[in-house]
Amino acid sequence: MSDLPALSGVALVTGAASGIGKEVAFSFAEGGCRGVVFADINHDAATAAAKESQSFAADAAYRALAVRVDVTDLQSVQDMVDLTVREFGRVYHSVNAAGIANLTATPTASTDFTHFNHVLDTNLKGTAHCIAIVAKAMLSQPPLTYTPPHRRGHTDPSSTALNTLPPRTLGRGAIINIGSIYSTLTRPSSLAYTASKHGVLGLTKAAALDHARDGIRVNVVCPGVTDTPMFRSVLDRYPAMQSAIARNVPWEGRMASTREVAAAVLWLCSRGASYVTGACLGVDGGVGLSHGGVKI
Ligand SMILES: NC(=O)c1ccc[n+]([C@@H]2O[C@H](COP(=O)([O-])OP(=O)(O)OC[C@H]3O[C@@H](n4cnc5c(N)ncnc54)[C@H](O)[C@@H]3O)[C@@H](O)[C@H]2O)c1
Repeated sequence: MSDLPALSGVALVTGAASGIGKEVAFSFAEGGCRGVVFADINHDAATAAAKESQSFAADAAYRALAVRVDVTDLQSVQDMVDLTVREFGRVYHSVNAAGIANLTATPTASTDFTHFNHVLDTNLKGTAHCIAIVAKAMLSQPPLTYTPPHRRGHTDPSSTALNTLPPRTLGRGAIINIGSIYSTLTRPSSLAYTASKHGVLGLTKAAALDHARDGIRVNVVCPGVTDTPMFRSVLDRYPAMQSAIARNVPWEGRMASTREVAAAVLWLCSRGASYVTGACLGVDGGVGLSHGGVKI
């Protein structure tokens, strides 16, 4: 049995050329979507990933599209969404995984504001651009409904018995942002990254509230340390982090796989999450339970 919920429709994923975004996009293909848009600033890698997804997509009519987007540029985000709607008709699931790491580890008093602006522009403003433009496109899409099948053993479709589940709205679409344990915690020398990821949690709550009545759900997945090229580059700079992970991550003392993060993202997009909006779902092996997170 698959670790992914069954899905349909069309997914738009930013940061889909690498790491978490790439695995999320692959999982949408594997989970049954008929179309996935692989959007990234690295167009060559997005194109290669989109091509690879054709080999394991579950829907026989599956189509993947690679798009170059710079999420810091509002017009570039608008072009990405326009292309998606033109090619596929509507956006069912939108995942904002484009982001950059804490590139310089300096204490607050030594903040380099070129770096600060770059992190905030990408992680916070880039996510805001995508939420706003995608939400606007979703507003013009008709809402979908879902009628659950009768419970096993209960076969009379005209029955109003308690074990007959009522139809429910799936709304106009789901938006999932990628936060971090830094959305709720911090550690030394991470002013910009902490501000950007706390901000992503704030964006999620504000957008979820604004558009709940419109049938658009907005949630955030907050991964802990996850095995991606981004995190491998952090490990290269701070090799001691490997043993810190073994000591401090409550669940098995290890990093998350990108697949474990993707499975949470897909659940939030699925029918099973039809009443979940504005939620922050930690996928962090319990790191967020203890103050300070992973120490190096
Ligand atoms: N890896 C971790 O441990 C971890 C933990 C918590 C949260 N996150 C978050 O998950 C997200 C994905 O990180 P990852 O580890 O998969 O990193 P990654 O470097 O493997 O992938 C990030 C992708 O975003 C793309 N990107 C960067 N700037 C962009 C821009 N301006 N426009 C469009 N695309 C852009 C990159 O080209 C890359 O393909 C980030 O938001 C990161 O902060 C990662």
